[in-house]
Amino acid sequence: MMRTHYCGELNEKHIDQTITLAGWVHRRRDHGGVIFLDMRDRDGLVQVVIDPDTPEAFAMADKSRSEFVLKITGRVRNRYQGTENPNMPTGMIEVLGKDIEILAESETPPFPLNDDFSNVGEEVRLKYRFLDMRRPEMLERMRFRSKVTSKIRTYLDTNGFLDVETPVLTRATPEGARDYLVPSRTQPGSFFALPQSPQLFKQLLMVSGFDRYYQIAKCFRDEDLRADRQPEFTQIDIETSFLSDEDIMQITEGMIRELFDELLGVKFTPLQRMTYADAMRDFASDKPDMRIPMKLVDVADLMQNVEFKVFAGPAKDPKGRIAALCVPGGASMPRSQIDEYTKFVGIYGAKGLAYIKVNDLAAGIEGLQSPIVKFIEPIVMELLQRVGAKNGDLVFFGADKAKIVNDALGALRVRVGHDLKLSTCEWAPLWVVDFPMFEETDDGHWTSVHHPFTMPKCDVATLTSNPGAALSVAYDFVLNGTEIGGGSLRIYNLEMQKAVFEALGISEEEANEKFAFLLDALKYGAPPHGGLAFGLDRLIMLMTGAASIRDVIAFPKTKSAECLMTHAPAPVDAKQLRELGIRIREKEKAAE
Ligand code: AMO
Ligand code: AMP
Repeated sequence: MMRTHYCGELNEKHIDQTITLAGWVHRRRDHGGVIFLDMRDRDGLVQVVIDPDTPEAFAMADKSRSEFVLKITGRVRNRYQGTENPNMPTGMIEVLGKDIEILAESETPPFPLNDDFSNVGEEVRLKYRFLDMRRPEMLERMRFRSKVTSKIRTYLDTNGFLDVETPVLTRATPEGARDYLVPSRTQPGSFFALPQSPQLFKQLLMVSGFDRYYQIAKCFRDEDLRADRQPEFTQIDIETSFLSDEDIMQITEGMIRELFDELLGVKFTPLQRMTYADAMRDFASDKPDMRIPMKLVDVADLMQNVEFKVFAGPAKDPKGRIAALCVPGGASMPRSQIDEYTKFVGIYGAKGLAYIKVNDLAAGIEGLQSPIVKFIEPIVMELLQRVGAKNGDLVFFGADKAKIVNDALGALRVRVGHDLKLSTCEWAPLWVVDFPMFEETDDGHWTSVHHPFTMPKCDVATLTSNPGAALSVAYDFVLNGTEIGGGSLRIYNLEMQKAVFEALGISEEEANEKFAFLLDALKYGAPPHGGLAFGLDRLIMLMTGAASIRDVIAFPKTKSAECLMTHAPAPVDAKQLRELGIRIREKEKAAE
């Protein structure tokens, strides 16, 4: 071993010891005659002093620059009085360097690693990710991530779970995104799909009798990327047999509870369970941010006969919704801010954002300030009473198809809540339960809200007669408005699985073609089973307070699913394509 100690671990206990460090020059300062090197490694920083009494070491220090890799032997000593640095864990001591070896030189890095970092663009950071991760902030997040996975393994091992690896080269595993495909050389024209999750394999492990499975598994989804989505991400994937949905929630909640307690010192009280229907009604979201107390209120019934077309239309439309959001103390909001919010809801398809400022309820209509009051005069006081508006409040309204109102006001509720600092707590975890089995696509078909293997709460006949009304035994773990986990009990009965495929418009032929192995497995003694998967990256993002999922992944991809460091994806040579039986259509490539 080259080193005897890490830089960051040195303290007054090491005084007068001769130690050897190996690390990077974080900063070099030449104080006319004495050179100071702040040395950095995985553990932190320490100050090394080199004076001209040791001419060879001094020459090496003189030659060294930022990010050079050095091996330094020296003696730990107290800093001179008045030169201690209480902001630095090693700030009471320094190392008097006696012997320095330059192990590697460094060019000037593309961005400084020892200075203010705030204006360095993410593109440069991703291109030079190996340098970016030298920054203590990044290193800390990766260290934290490693602690989390270690604790998760311990928790699941202790609870009898077996870690089993499932294939990465496989067939499509439907989780609702596009697949990443891998062409086969041995069977030209055929493709593997990378798993969107290990869903079917973990179910098959239950059929095999493994009883409790987990895997920290890579998943691949070709979908539109956002701050909390990557094309390649990691799940804490769990499956169990012979447990109820309640049992599964207890076990997995216990794991998250332990992580927060042991790593952040945060204790959750037992988690609330909220039905999907309640979540949509009160928060217009299936992942409500419960740090913000404001609730939406439905008011369509009051608007049946108003003159105002913007409201009257959706009020009469069975697929419409009119919801109100009462913002406490919002009446002082300037017009420019309301305009800003109107633009914001526009992103979600809302055509406007009606509002009423409640200045003085006792003054009736006169006490209100609003562009719409004159159109809804007969019902306005009842309306304000319904939403619980008080003097000084502002009430926003959304009226449209329910989907648009939910998307727009659901997001507005969170945005306004953060802007006005209405959060009542730092952490708000909950379970959302009783999801519908299916939702309608734009072209009038049913698609699974979770996935096609989710158990409905009803029997085959009820499901078949009214798929839209069927609920599933599914549960999502939501934390601060982010879905960090989701799971369900699974169908373990052939007839029900066939009925669900049928409701989804998957023909028997197609089902046999794609899922023969699953349908077979259901014929040979499949136990009742169910599980869940947490998004590890999202969990770490929330726990570390990172702004993006990219900040907690060592080598992430950009929003256009590229790696700026390796330049993947990349063209391949003609020979490789020929072996795979693939020809690129040049015309289309040129048109892009
Ligand atoms: P689901 O699709 O809900 O369920 O995924 C589980 C969790 O994985 C995380 N997640 C993602 N994280 C980062 N980037 C992505 N693109 C991404 N997509 C999903 C989320 C989500 O809650 N097989 C089922 C689980 C089961 O039923 O047991 C599944 O994959 O945090
Ligand atoms: P208009 O009659 O279109 O000028 O709209 C009058 C008010 O209603 C304005 O404050 C608009 O922002 C608002 N508004 C328009 N369409 C909607 C809608 N779909 N939902 C909520 N408010 C709306």
